[in-house]
Amino acid sequence: MERWRKKLDDLTRQNMRRSLRTVAGMQGPHVSLDGRELLMLCSNNYLGLASHPHLIEAATRATVDYGVGSSGSRLISGSMELHADFEARLASFKSTEAALLFNSGYAANNGILQGLFGPDDVIFSDELNHASIIDGCRLSKARTVVYKHADPESLESLMITEQPKRRGRWVIVTDGVFSMDGDIAPLAELVSLKGRYDALLMIDDAHGTGVLGATGRGSGEHCGCLHQIDLHMGTLGKGLGCFGAYLASSQVVIDTLVNSSRSFIFSTSLPPALPATAMAALDVVESEEGARLRQQLRSNRQVFIEKLVAGGCDIGESETQIVPVITGDPVSTMQSAGKLLEAGIFIQGIRPPTVPDGQCRLRGTIMATHDPTQLEAAAEKIVATVDKGRK
Ligand SMILES: Cc1ncc(COP(=O)(O)O)c(C=O)c1O
Repeated sequence: MERWRKKLDDLTRQNMRRSLRTVAGMQGPHVSLDGRELLMLCSNNYLGLASHPHLIEAATRATVDYGVGSSGSRLISGSMELHADFEARLASFKSTEAALLFNSGYAANNGILQGLFGPDDVIFSDELNHASIIDGCRLSKARTVVYKHADPESLESLMITEQPKRRGRWVIVTDGVFSMDGDIAPLAELVSLKGRYDALLMIDDAHGTGVLGATGRGSGEHCGCLHQIDLHMGTLGKGLGCFGAYLASSQVVIDTLVNSSRSFIFSTSLPPALPATAMAALDVVESEEGARLRQQLRSNRQVFIEKLVAGGCDIGESETQIVPVITGDPVSTMQSAGKLLEAGIFIQGIRPPTVPDGQCRLRGTIMATHDPTQLEAAAEKIVATVDKGRK
């Protein structure tokens, strides 16, 4: 106990201690925190689907018809028709032969990399990939070669160095949209490299699915190479508004994971309401309403970043609804987040190890359901609050 207490005290002293905040009621463009209504600028509920009536109805109906629990892992007792229905629908959405549900994005990246790759293989991983990919690489026991962020030249030079030692499979793995920076991976260049070096390409499209591309099929569609991606991982808890994750790929990959992926095999499957709700989310994403929401999201983002940039904020390389305001050190970052909270804006300060040292930031996330005038006002408050001396 004493050691843990001391560690927590150290974190407090360094301004690095994390703690939970409880929001009351539903997730939406505003949330209630400690009895105050705040503008929500730290939600991954990009299209507002977490409280959409069509999804709530699907969840309710499936719960009434199928109950609340799945009763076991898919291989023991918990493979229900709604799981299979969703997988077929998702495979068609991503234009692949098959798909497999996972219980979360974290579990998916762990289970996919561990289940498909081993000590003879090489995983080429972007240096800013999500923690769940980093942990999946470790679990796989494959050799992991980290290339410079979104830099195909760095990747190619590492591939050239690795070539003479090659024994097994090669896979390039990257976030589609980087979760802390909001930039998009150079997918077309990665597709070209994977072709030239006989590698596979795995995309974690947690922040692209539903949101990017003309029809919401994600960063692959946005970059014009949806059909060249071998392993499409994504989550259901962000743009799709619910919870869980998937891999869409070839039948042989999915069958392999059913036989090898520990996070899939040794865990109770998602409650039946989840795949039903995710199917309802795809209904919205594929409808005219989905196209309208994506358009609104893009224009909301534009309103927000124009004010930030005009006010001298550094938003890094953001190209999407994830808009960091780089602040640098943990102390000023957490002070800015605290002041903005007092001013009615809920935005999180992000510190190491989530981002590299010196790269602390306020991570703003835009929703289609935000009111643009409120976003403008929020951007003005951010400009007035953060220290822009770093720019
Ligand atoms: C890029 C990326 N991959 C995976 C995950 C994990 O997904 P989940 O929240 O469903 O565990 C996240 C964030 O949560 C993420 O940002």
